[in-house]
Amino acid sequence: MSDKCSCEQPLVPTVVEVVDIKDETPDVKSFYCRLSEGGVPFNVAPGQCAMVSYLPVGEGMFSCTWQEEQEYLQFAIKKVGLLTDELHAIEVGQKLGVRGPYGNGFPVEECKGKDMLFIAGGIGLAPLRSFIKYCFKHREDYGKITIVYGSRSYADLCFKEELFNEWPAIKDTQVYVTIDNPEEGWDGHVGFVPAYVEEINPNPQGLIAVTCGPPIMIKFVLQSLEKMGYTDDQVITTLEMRMKCGIGKCGRCNIGSEYICLDGPVFTLAQLKQLPQEW
Ligand code: FES
Repeated sequence: MSDKCSCEQPLVPTVVEVVDIKDETPDVKSFYCRLSEGGVPFNVAPGQCAMVSYLPVGEGMFSCTWQEEQEYLQFAIKKVGLLTDELHAIEVGQKLGVRGPYGNGFPVEECKGKDMLFIAGGIGLAPLRSFIKYCFKHREDYGKITIVYGSRSYADLCFKEELFNEWPAIKDTQVYVTIDNPEEGWDGHVGFVPAYVEEINPNPQGLIAVTCGPPIMIKFVLQSLEKMGYTDDQVITTLEMRMKCGIGKCGRCNIGSEYICLDGPVFTLAQLKQLPQEW
């Protein structure tokens, strides 16, 4: 695992400007932010988060996309409440505060030389996408890459251009997409992600599985992987949804006596099983 998040992160946000906003789904938008004079206030590793503040509404912790060039910070944000509703209403040129990065991030070095299986549901593809992009940037360092992604409907699939056009064209890469229910115009797979993973049945030999999505999906994906013969050390997930303050101060992320923000949010299943089963 990567180093723990430090409590010495600056607490004063840096002001960035929103330079582009892209609709991903009816309730997910991507925000591209950078300093007014260009560039970004900090570099982000795959799987890390940042605190975004929009005054006077409030602030929240969001997954921050790893960028090859680090020329802007990118956040894919789903509408789930007051702050995100207000963020969805802002326009290009809006100033926001950011601080971070927070969290340990994915173990990109430890996974080198392995085949990779990424399993995501809904907005859960956002943090995994950072790791996927990193693997593609360092393509020779990783083996076969398999991506299994699902959402409620076609409209709810995030990052469609990458999913359907860019990623499947990359060497030794398979992308499997499913939606929960049949719908007109969709001739792809229909069904839930865990069952689709079992249907595809990637050989666990030399493979690392990384999953993120709604808690219920993660629960059944973990069961499916276990059934398929994956060991606990081969399975990685991120509990970034529990990150609130990110610096061990608010006490809202703990599982038992452990603080997700200080020890995670990325864990192997073996590590999670050491904790009380509250995740
Ligand atoms: S997120 Fe606040 S203590 Fe961990």
